[in-house]
Amino acid sequence: QELQMNLEQIEKGGYDHFMLKEIYEQPNVIKDTYRGRLHANSGIVQMAGVEDNLEKFLHAQRILIVACGTSWHAGLVAEYIIEEFTRIPVEVEYASEFRYRNPIINPNDVVIAISQSGETADTLAAIKLAKEKGAFVFGVCNVVGSSISRETHAGAYTHAGPEIGVASTKAFTTQITVLTMIALRLAKAKGTLSNSDFYRYLQELEVIPEKVHEALESNEKAKEIAAKFKDAPNCLYLGRGYNFPVALEGALKLKEISYIHAEGYPAAEMKHGPIALIDEQMPVVVIAPKQGHYDKVVSNIQEIKSRSGKIIAVVTKGDVQVKELADHVIEIPETSDALSPLITTIPLQLLSYHIAVMRGCNVDQPRNLAKSVTVE
Ligand code: G6P
Repeated sequence: QELQMNLEQIEKGGYDHFMLKEIYEQPNVIKDTYRGRLHANSGIVQMAGVEDNLEKFLHAQRILIVACGTSWHAGLVAEYIIEEFTRIPVEVEYASEFRYRNPIINPNDVVIAISQSGETADTLAAIKLAKEKGAFVFGVCNVVGSSISRETHAGAYTHAGPEIGVASTKAFTTQITVLTMIALRLAKAKGTLSNSDFYRYLQELEVIPEKVHEALESNEKAKEIAAKFKDAPNCLYLGRGYNFPVALEGALKLKEISYIHAEGYPAAEMKHGPIALIDEQMPVVVIAPKQGHYDKVVSNIQEIKSRSGKIIAVVTKGDVQVKELADHVIEIPETSDALSPLITTIPLQLLSYHIAVMRGCNVDQPRNLAKSVTVE
């Protein structure tokens, strides 16, 4: 028993929980994920699984992404990035819906399956269906040798290392890293990004680990804010564009580990429903980096404020406008809009973590949840 405890302590590397350890590992594992694949100065971004099947990707009339949970959110971020960089139409589906609805799959569709564990039953079944219909199926998995990595035609691993906490953190950011590299590789081949944009994105991706490191400095601030909102019964997360999926993921993290009801919404959709919920009791987390639809988000914040909602805003360092309106702000370093999910998601992970700890929840093993869902 004692030996067991000590072993676990060692595995947690000085952190109170695996989740916190894994949040803090992100600068390193993102680097591990692009190591040997990304050489910004020489304009190289390559992954063996993509190079070997480049023609299939380039001839794809459509990319279909299938996944579940947090991996599905990474898919949504990838949809925006791939369409913007490559102009290939992308659709993202819950694997569980896809497999049961007789989906249209053409032989020249490329299906990308995203899965941390590589064992999720619904994702695996979706892959089998896509293969039967003749599609080329590419896997983005973390666990080496997992069922999904074996069942797919080719793939690229995220090198996040073992993720123990049930709530996914480093798997999410490394999935986005791999998918961004795929988009950049295809954009280069298709010529859909200007040379200068291509090089700029490569360089920005290379410095993302440092920026994630900087974003982790928001930990104390996240803790302070957590203390104020730990007893809230509900919480709303809003974001636009690339940060809409980040809002979904932020809400998922909070509900998974703290059991607070949380919903993510595209900021502009707030007026079609969630706005009815806003009163002085309602915390609203708004992702409002300077890049992207900043002015639009500012006006959404004004709408929340005029209804006495409590605003927690994630802003770019040096922000003035949102700071004046928000009750609490968390500052993050600047990056381009397309890469911002890798940074904006960090303080949201920390916020959920601290709220859950303060509520006395079992952060690493939340009730009713499993790390990998191998049943339907
Ligand atoms: C479970 C986990 C989630 C994960 C989802 C998909 O619900 O608790 O953290 O996002 O499965 O798992 P996968 O391994 O396929 O990414």
